[in-house]
Amino acid sequence: MCEDELIPPQADMTEREWLRAGSETTAGGPSMRTTGRVPQWVNRRTLLGGAMAGAALTVLPSPAQSPASAAPRLGGPGAFPFPEHPNGKGEFAVLVTGDAGTGDEAQYAVAAAARDLCRTEGIGLAVGLGDNIYENGPESDDDSEFQDKFEKPNSGIDVPWLMVLGNHDCSGLIPGSGGDPSRGDREVAYAATSRRWYMPSRYYSVPLPAADPLVEFFAIDTIPWSSYVAQLDPHYRWDGPYMREQRSWLDGALRASRARWKVVIGHHPYLNNGKHGSAGSYDGFEIGNYTSGVHLKDMYENVVCGRADLILSGHDHTLQILEPTARTGGTRQVVCGASAKTEDGKAHFGHPAAWQNFSDNGFMVLKVSGARLTIDAYTVDVATRKATLAHRTHQTRPVAAPARTHA
Ligand SMILES: [Fe+2]
Repeated sequence: MCEDELIPPQADMTEREWLRAGSETTAGGPSMRTTGRVPQWVNRRTLLGGAMAGAALTVLPSPAQSPASAAPRLGGPGAFPFPEHPNGKGEFAVLVTGDAGTGDEAQYAVAAAARDLCRTEGIGLAVGLGDNIYENGPESDDDSEFQDKFEKPNSGIDVPWLMVLGNHDCSGLIPGSGGDPSRGDREVAYAATSRRWYMPSRYYSVPLPAADPLVEFFAIDTIPWSSYVAQLDPHYRWDGPYMREQRSWLDGALRASRARWKVVIGHHPYLNNGKHGSAGSYDGFEIGNYTSGVHLKDMYENVVCGRADLILSGHDHTLQILEPTARTGGTRQVVCGASAKTEDGKAHFGHPAAWQNFSDNGFMVLKVSGARLTIDAYTVDVATRKATLAHRTHQTRPVAAPARTHA
């Protein structure tokens, strides 16, 4: 069979089906099944309890070092500084946006509503979850679209923005295909001239505060694992050097992290109730190693689940705060991709959710203290540019213990 032959659509498993599949596997003894970081002879319910109670302490000989995992660096001249201390409420407050780069009225309205909250919530950092420049990404390192679809709408939100690449940022002839990853280098280059846009490399981590981190953000590039077309450049193939290096880096960086809370930020979600569906079955199609995100699913399950507290993603133009489950190893999936576009108003899948919205524009605010993670979801009325707090979720127990270095 041709490697990139079209495979008939396959539906994602529900949580119940996933659990049943696990129990059927365990009934016959140990399995060599390789997907999922959970050994199959460990009961998944038991694992969830263990993960939610906190994983065993990880002791490392030395933290992994990588140019992409350094402490926050300055961006362009006069770059807005990273917060070194919690705000007046004892929290690091982070604005979370996704799929915002249209330059249209809805983007301006969501940004205006968020801007109003920045002062009252003490927001010191922002996240852009990809599709930063619709439809095909920037044409150069200083494309005017950076101004029209990022700087102008977000004027006044004067904090560092942790940016990740979306499929629209890395597209060539076919808008949104993700078939031209090298175009993402332009967004990295742009960071050198912007006060807001932070993207020191295509994947990177940011610990806050840098000296003694309470929370660490791990920004990843999901595009070559989930593009709608096959990657033709060998460097960016799903099993090429770039993706192997990124996966190895993320594995080491999560293991080495000394932060109490760990947050992975990447454009494509692991689980998703919106129309695009979940990793491994995106849009119901599989073209060899691409389109469905089958290798991104494998990466999430083997590297991230049970080790990070949150996965923050966009891609679907919805607002979803899903529940941590056995399948996720206690990791919570959040989808926040409605900062300029909206979806079709209905759930397409049934992954357990604390709250979800498929109709409105909006954004979220992540608040981090030693005691808890809080996620506030806001919907925005575009006509009035006003935000409404629609839901608040707390979690108080980290999924995994921080690493400790030898004394
Ligand atoms: Fe997308």
